[in-house]
Amino acid sequence: MTTETITLTDGGAVIHPRWVRVCHWINALAILVMIGSGWQIYNASPLFDFVFPRQIALGNWLAGALLWHFAAMWVLVINGIVYVTLGIVTGRFRRKLFPIRPIEVIADLKAALTFKLAHDDLSRYNAVQKLLYTGVILAGIVIVLSGLSIWKPIQFQELTALFGGYDAARYVHFFAMVAIVAFLVVHVVLALIVPKSLRAMIIGR
Ligand code: HEM
Ligand code: HEM
Repeated sequence: MTTETITLTDGGAVIHPRWVRVCHWINALAILVMIGSGWQIYNASPLFDFVFPRQIALGNWLAGALLWHFAAMWVLVINGIVYVTLGIVTGRFRRKLFPIRPIEVIADLKAALTFKLAHDDLSRYNAVQKLLYTGVILAGIVIVLSGLSIWKPIQFQELTALFGGYDAARYVHFFAMVAIVAFLVVHVVLALIVPKSLRAMIIGR
């Protein structure tokens, strides 16, 4: 597919094809609902010594939160399958996210932390972006699989067993959420620091 290099009549090249942008924003919305409702579910029976503030948890109480969680789940999973399938068959993942070389990750991380990382070519990801985007896609797969394990531990018992049982799957689910939230904080801050990257993810260029 050459959609990403199509030149538009006004001269700007498409950085992110429409399907990436549509999937990205549907995913962003679904993930926010999953996080908010997940925190409310957590509060009903906390795994640790703290609860999430009510103001930032979604669904008011356990049953409400579960309804949100299981509704947005379908959006998240269907959209995720579309994105990952297209990412593979169009070659986008191979082109944009690979290879990830540790030595480049270290060099780009150093450059990023000293504000020396160039952003002039938005159509190419630096090694840190490649690592983070690949990582969050994997975290997404883990959170869906662990979610299925704690949602239907009888029907998906092989899957639940793979995680080491129901209780372990619950911890895996929780820490995958922590990883996604940590990614999101960095990701959103960087998008605001480099606003033209945000523009490209909205209008394509
Ligand atoms: C197919 C996708 C998913 C399914 C089927 C699913 C299912 C579930 C279920 C059944 C619970 C209740 C666990 C319990 O009773 O303790 C739960 C809790 C939770 N979920 Fe999900 N989930 C999914 C995706 C996500 C995503 C994408 C996030 C956030 C990014 C998330 C965050 C949470 C959190 C924070 C909790 C509370 C953790 C706990 O105390 O166990 N979930 N999920
Ligand atoms: C809600 C606020 C969000 C904002 C403002 C945002 C913004 C952006 C921007 C500006 C880009 C392009 C950046 C670049 O050129 O590197 C991007 C790409 C990306 N974002 Fe987000 N994002 C958000 C949420 C999320 C969430 C929740 C996830 C996943 C859990 C996510 C995963 C990704 C991935 C994987 C890419 C690369 C996509 C590709 O090239 O195929 N984003 N995001």
